[in-house]
Amino acid sequence: MNCSLRIAGALFATAEFSFGQNVHSIANVFKPQATPANSVYNVSMLMLAICAAIFVVVGGLLTFTIVRFRSRKADDPREPAQVYGSNRIEIAWTVIPVLIVLVLGMATARAVVEVQGKRMPADALKVTVIGHQWWWEFRYPDLGIVTANELHVPLSMAAKPAVAALRLESADVAHSFWVPQLAGKTDVIPGITNHMWIDPQQEGIFLGNCAEYCGMQHANMLLRVVVEPAADFEKWAAAQKMDAGSDARLESARTTFLSLNCINCHTVSGTIATGTFGPDLSHLMSRATLASGMVPNTPENLRAWVKDPQAIKHGTLMPNMQLNSRELDEVVKYLSSLK
Ligand code: CUA
Repeated sequence: MNCSLRIAGALFATAEFSFGQNVHSIANVFKPQATPANSVYNVSMLMLAICAAIFVVVGGLLTFTIVRFRSRKADDPREPAQVYGSNRIEIAWTVIPVLIVLVLGMATARAVVEVQGKRMPADALKVTVIGHQWWWEFRYPDLGIVTANELHVPLSMAAKPAVAALRLESADVAHSFWVPQLAGKTDVIPGITNHMWIDPQQEGIFLGNCAEYCGMQHANMLLRVVVEPAADFEKWAAAQKMDAGSDARLESARTTFLSLNCINCHTVSGTIATGTFGPDLSHLMSRATLASGMVPNTPENLRAWVKDPQAIKHGTLMPNMQLNSRELDEVVKYLSSLK
């Protein structure tokens, strides 16, 4: 193994370690794990097969012609036979492409109708996805849960299908919600509500990202979908519904946090912090990453983020609050308690 490979391997191992196990780290459209992604996959394979056949036929004929009818003498002055106006050929190369386009169009339309026309079952898990510059807000209206960047949904099984019905909205500009292994892209447009659904059939963490250029940190508008068995999902949901920790030992840290401007943008359930401009922090420590999937949620990264978010994610709307080191310690201590 050469050196750069070894470094890449080490980095990969580190990322796997810090982001936890079971991350489907390559967002591979060729390994669909939910019905909508599977429909997209089937259409893609049909398209690829037809295009490959066209490539082989056209490339084969071209190669054959070049070889078979090449000029055999270096100084042969004669032109080859010139053929004009063959009705049969004209008709063939009009009709065949029309048929191909028709087949592809109909296959695509069928997949679109299959995915978009599905009626949501009564027990579908409703989630409102709100795109922000540059993070994702996930609201579960029926459960009273608000979280960010990490969407939890139950595993769908043949015996007990589980559908998550997503309602997509934007708080600012156009974004696009894309988790390649679970579904195709759906645009997230200000003033318009779009809908999509997923029924993940494999446990684990699926990576996704914003797929519509939305400003400087578009590339760092990452998201993760955590697919877990129904019992684990229930456990997660129950924990999210609890008010944030009210440990008496954190009294001073909490007082400091609540006295700062943080509360104008962030919510911590059960406190006077009710801002909605930034991510809900009620259960910040239940999330594996910070800054919309950019860095692992470790105490060091949390401290660095609160100290100067711009250093990690230049352009993020969270300003450097110019906290002194006592305030910084207290805020990080308090945030670290929000499990
Ligand atoms: Cu949001 Cu790109």
